[in-house]
Amino acid sequence: MRILRAAMAQELWTAVDEYICERLLPPDPVLDAALAASEAAGLPPIAVTANQGKLLELLTRIHGARRVLELGTLGGYSTIWLARGLPAGGRLVTLELDPGYAAVANENIARAGLSSVTDLRVGPALETLATMHAGDEEPFDLIFIDADKQNYQGYLDWSLKLSRPGTVLIGDNVVRAGGILDPSSEDGVIQGVRRFYDLLADEPRVDATAIQTVGGKGHDGFALGIVNGAAG
Ligand code: SAH
Ligand code: DHB
Ligand code: MG
Repeated sequence: MRILRAAMAQELWTAVDEYICERLLPPDPVLDAALAASEAAGLPPIAVTANQGKLLELLTRIHGARRVLELGTLGGYSTIWLARGLPAGGRLVTLELDPGYAAVANENIARAGLSSVTDLRVGPALETLATMHAGDEEPFDLIFIDADKQNYQGYLDWSLKLSRPGTVLIGDNVVRAGGILDPSSEDGVIQGVRRFYDLLADEPRVDATAIQTVGGKGHDGFALGIVNGAAG
């Protein structure tokens, strides 16, 4: 009974997502091609949904972000949405562990005409972030954290080092169908997300909230914060 209800709920959430996308998002062959190429290459189907992607584009525009950092590129689907929110002269840096995924992403980004604004760096994000911080990387205006959830706490730490007061932070997948409520979970994803909340809760430089979402990708959510003190 419980399982049946859950299946019916999922069907409804998916149908509503389809309605929203059909009404508000015009056909987009470039994004469709990005998903098709990602699927053909065997990438997991875990990109943000189209209406979530549009939210990323809108947040980038609303904030007037000129420099965006993304952790976790996958096939570049969310990358394309974020990059579309940039003004002329804007830049996006996206970090991906898997060289095969990165190759697919680079093709998708090229098809979207966004290669010149996008810089995809391959490797473990914690290492790339350390290298970036040691170099002369300017602070980012908006950071989308969406790589391996086990390292979200470390990603938030490095994000703060690459921020300025006013930088917007977004963390994806911070509800996991309510899985985050279990403090004794043996799932590294859940523990990683819980540590991310711990750090957000204790971090005076960030003013944050989190919003649950339902839709084509089930019940999950995102965290949204702003760096409000002296960062670095
Ligand atoms: N942002 C994408 C989805 C990202 S899925 C979208 O919505 O379209 C998470 C990605 O993080 C995967 O591609 C995975 O390979 C990558 N990842 C996992 N561990 C990583 C690490 N240590 N460093 C960088 N990327 C990592
Ligand atoms: C999953 C979903 C995501 O959005 C992500 O970034 C990683 C994993 C998932 O559903 O497993
Ligand atoms: Mg995600």
